[in-house]
Amino acid sequence: MCESSHSEPISDVHGRPLGQLRLSVTDRCNLRCRYCMPEQNYEWLPHDDLLRYEEIADLVTIFTDAGVRKVRLTGGEPLLRRDLERLVRLLAANAHMEDIAMTTNGILLADAAERLREAGLGRVTVSLDTLRPERFLALTRRDLHRRVLEGIRAAMDAGFPPLKLDMVVMRGVNDDEILPMLDFARELRAELRFIEYMDVGGATHWSASEVVSRGEILERIERHHGGVEAIGGQGSAPAERFALPDGSTFGVIASVTAPFCRDCDRSRLTADGQWYLCLYAARGIDLRGPVRRGATREEITSLITAHWSARTDRGAEERRAARSRGPLIAIEALRQDPHLEMHTRGG
Ligand code: GTP
Ligand code: 5AD
Ligand code: SF4
Repeated sequence: MCESSHSEPISDVHGRPLGQLRLSVTDRCNLRCRYCMPEQNYEWLPHDDLLRYEEIADLVTIFTDAGVRKVRLTGGEPLLRRDLERLVRLLAANAHMEDIAMTTNGILLADAAERLREAGLGRVTVSLDTLRPERFLALTRRDLHRRVLEGIRAAMDAGFPPLKLDMVVMRGVNDDEILPMLDFARELRAELRFIEYMDVGGATHWSASEVVSRGEILERIERHHGGVEAIGGQGSAPAERFALPDGSTFGVIASVTAPFCRDCDRSRLTADGQWYLCLYAARGIDLRGPVRRGATREEITSLITAHWSARTDRGAEERRAARSRGPLIAIEALRQDPHLEMHTRGG
């Protein structure tokens, strides 16, 4: 593939530009969170199918030529992929790139934070659902809570801008920690985001009764802290931001009760090169095949442009409209096609 010049961003059928790209660099994870990987056994992507870092970075230059400015490394757990800083360095060398972020569970962050920062990683979001070690074990089936806290500390010491912390709120599981988590984040000057429990692939035990809605989260915070103020300016970001009376801020990601598909400029590339135009899309577009067959840059650009221009996905809004909701995908179907899993297509 050779270099080509930058052109205008392309828009989909609803006028949404091709904006952020989420790069799932591995489908593997070192935790087993019950909202994402509750089963005993999983099908993994074959190793030879995984894109090499050079292949990912080359593909990303095609995406940035088509308008992408922000990438986020996800997984699975992205830090399970060896020498991730090498990929960060390749992405940081892309002249159009404005933002390189990573969502991690933090287990391996203490060792990696400084190297990633030096390589050019701009921002880090850590998933943290509880402050209690024994609850962490019950939720993730791994006794590694302390490692996450060490990871958070190391990322702060490595000089990253204020971290974001993602908490999936589940009724009867961790919803009694909404206020303690807010205090914890405030002390660290991190921005906590409360995430509604989604019925995505992988959430095979999802039930509507376990979702704590945006409205309920805000009500509980207001009851304790007094009025919270919406900050606005969310743009295409999934989180709505709010300020407490003391000026500290937090976010709510209301994918279930108030989906944000209208402004969604996100697509996702799996570790084996399948491109998904929606978190809920049944099928992805194979980019690995063309890359490995030696397709030209122009051919891949045309493929990307054609699919994005025809994009109509509003997955979360359609789910909200569905009359009776249970888990989106049964475990048998997930075993047939691991790409349906959230940990494969990027959490
Ligand atoms: P920034 O705004 O750039 O900081 O990142 P972000 O909030 O997009 O990234 P993060 O990985 O922290 O996303 C937080 C959570 O939002 C994810 O774990 C998902 O639960 C949810 N989310 C992210 N992207 C999408 C999406 O495209 N659709 C839906 N429905 N939910 C999403
Ligand atoms: N509901 C909401 N968020 C989820 N994630 C994974 N599964 C779900 C789900 N069922 C997101 C969380 C987690 C990240 C890795 O993926 O934000 O922190
Ligand atoms: Fe975007 Fe699909 Fe998520 Fe809606 S459900 S915000 S369209 S990825």
